Amino acid sequence: MAQKPWDGRFSLSTDRMVEKFTSSIDVDKALYSCDIDGSIAHLKMMARQSIISQQEADILLKGLEKVREKIENNTFEYSDSLEDIHMHIESALGKEVGVVAKKLHTGRSRNDQVALDARIYLKAQTLSVMDSLLDLQKVIVVTAQKYIDVVMPGYTHLQRAQPVLFSHHLMAYYEMFKRDYERFEDSLKRTDVMPLGSAALAGTTFALDRELTRELLGFAKVSDNSMDSVSDRDFVMEFISHATVCMIHFSRFSEELVLWSSSEFAFITISDAFTTGSSIMPQKKNPDVAELVRGKTGRVVGNLMAIVTLMKSLPLAYNRDMQEDKEPLFDTVNTLKACIDIYTRMIPHVEIHRETMLFAAQKGYLNATDLADYLVVKGMPFREAHSVSGRAVAFALDRHKELHELSIENFKAFSDLIDKDIFEFISIERMISRRVTHGGTGYQNVKRAVEKAKERLKLQ
Ligand code: ARG
Repeated sequence: MAQKPWDGRFSLSTDRMVEKFTSSIDVDKALYSCDIDGSIAHLKMMARQSIISQQEADILLKGLEKVREKIENNTFEYSDSLEDIHMHIESALGKEVGVVAKKLHTGRSRNDQVALDARIYLKAQTLSVMDSLLDLQKVIVVTAQKYIDVVMPGYTHLQRAQPVLFSHHLMAYYEMFKRDYERFEDSLKRTDVMPLGSAALAGTTFALDRELTRELLGFAKVSDNSMDSVSDRDFVMEFISHATVCMIHFSRFSEELVLWSSSEFAFITISDAFTTGSSIMPQKKNPDVAELVRGKTGRVVGNLMAIVTLMKSLPLAYNRDMQEDKEPLFDTVNTLKACIDIYTRMIPHVEIHRETMLFAAQKGYLNATDLADYLVVKGMPFREAHSVSGRAVAFALDRHKELHELSIENFKAFSDLIDKDIFEFISIERMISRRVTHGGTGYQNVKRAVEKAKERLKLQ
């Protein structure tokens, strides 16, 4: 059993079951590199401030690099009795350099240490998520451009509503992922704050130069309140909450891919490389990637519930409960990154069936609004025009025809404002090109949106 840092005050050693129960090493060992980087900066700063000698610092710095090597070579020994990654590294440092290792923790507590590690970790992960999100947006924009003029039915209530460009539909996801990117970019500012030097909760009596530690670690600013620094996890809650929104976007996208690849829709085929078969039904080709991404949304929502419930009502400052923050955070980071990356890889392997999409857009009276608009152009108030168009739809439905299959005589019976030019007016091409309001599905609008996105993403 390892000696505990708190041995001085205790007369009994920790119960074995308690050691196992309180240990977090299985999870927080992922922070080893952040922890060593934090200690390196702390040592350099302490040497500069003459809290330890330069010679001691040099020994400790070398020792820490040796510990890092051992962890990376998998020759590092983990044990529940050493609780967490911080104590593991300190103990291993002792084995490397002897008693001088006991100076490392001067002016520091695991409370500010773990807050620092989490922030170093999350800063890097947020940047990496943002990078991946940019790659995803690029793939979406390139695909939108490739299929720029493909027409599909647009839906409301999952009922065919009005024709839209497939590229317009796809660019809706570009907008969502762009906002996700911006949310992460924004929360990064609040993660990029250096808490070390807050010590257990009240600050420390040693002459730490926190500004120097900040500089060495490349943080944007130093935290301003020691109690807040060791006890807040809002940067974790914020990240998981942004990740949740992003996953919700993925779940909607996934649902559409699942629907569109069904025989009922048959709008798309996802490449064999991104689907799987059934062990019993030979004809099956399942959109598993989309389904799993949709399913993994649940984990991230769960992680959000876990972290906010964990933090709720915790008194200041540090509480051991907070050790439970890492699993939801790490799982969120890993899940989100995996989902972004697999989508970026899969999207170019989705085949679009333009004829089926167009056919679907021509069935189901998607031009009824435009018939009403036509009458408005000819002088009829919209509400009245809506009702006339509705009656025309009912009439056509009765005869198993689409609006554009009615004769001019049929139309005239509903209103003598209707002329032969109605057929052109309610054609798919005209319906799309007339939607010129900013943000609408008009050809020029979507082209412009794609160009703007390409410029932002520095494509070509
Ligand atoms: N493993 C702990 C955590 O992740 C580190 C901080 C422990 N602090 C303490 N006073 N027990 O939260």
